[in-house]
Amino acid sequence: MIIAMDGPAASGKGTLAKQLAKHYGLGHLDTGALYRAVARDMIASGTALDDEGAAAQTARDIDPETLDDPGLRTPRIAEAAALVARLKGVRKALVDYQRAFAARPGGAVIEGRDIGTVVCPGADVKLFVEASTQVRAQRRHKELTEAGHDITFEEIHAQISARDARDRTRAISPLVPAEDAHLLDTSDLGIEAAFKVAVKLIGTAMR
Ligand code: DC
Repeated sequence: MIIAMDGPAASGKGTLAKQLAKHYGLGHLDTGALYRAVARDMIASGTALDDEGAAAQTARDIDPETLDDPGLRTPRIAEAAALVARLKGVRKALVDYQRAFAARPGGAVIEGRDIGTVVCPGADVKLFVEASTQVRAQRRHKELTEAGHDITFEEIHAQISARDARDRTRAISPLVPAEDAHLLDTSDLGIEAAFKVAVKLIGTAMR
């Protein structure tokens, strides 16, 4: 079974994806971490973020063992990831990786921005996870301050709004719900409640 999950930053899709993978015994891939890893490695080697050839090569060279790196979870890397995610060569290299992951025996939960539309259009179930910008900025602010980052709610709100605009309006693979995606708005739902709704949606879709 392949479950495709898309949605904007801090919509709750990451937490949900991990829980669903555990619940159904499936592999889990956070594709945002791939784009973040490309950004991290470009910055580390001092390469300009708009150097498409170098970025595509960096994407092909990503070490999957480094995707859990807490250094990927910073506002600076999030910004840079949204920039490299606009480059065609980067997307192509990473889509190949994601499709290979999806093809693993048993299936997977794959989360990102273009999973239901581009990476796995034939997924068994597609969830599009949303939440208001206000709620998403609150969640991200809590997460980052708890991790020790010194950043205000207003700064986070501005960053999330700017990144959303970039992700939703870019020319290649913009963030849009697939036509057959089930919408799940987590603005007023806690983690457990959102999980229950997701399991119900998946159960109905698989029938
Ligand atoms: O989900 P995230 O915040 O870790 O994603 C970081 C950036 O990567 C995000 O701004 C958009 C990009 N991204 C993408 O373009 N396509 C994906 N499938 C996943 C993430």
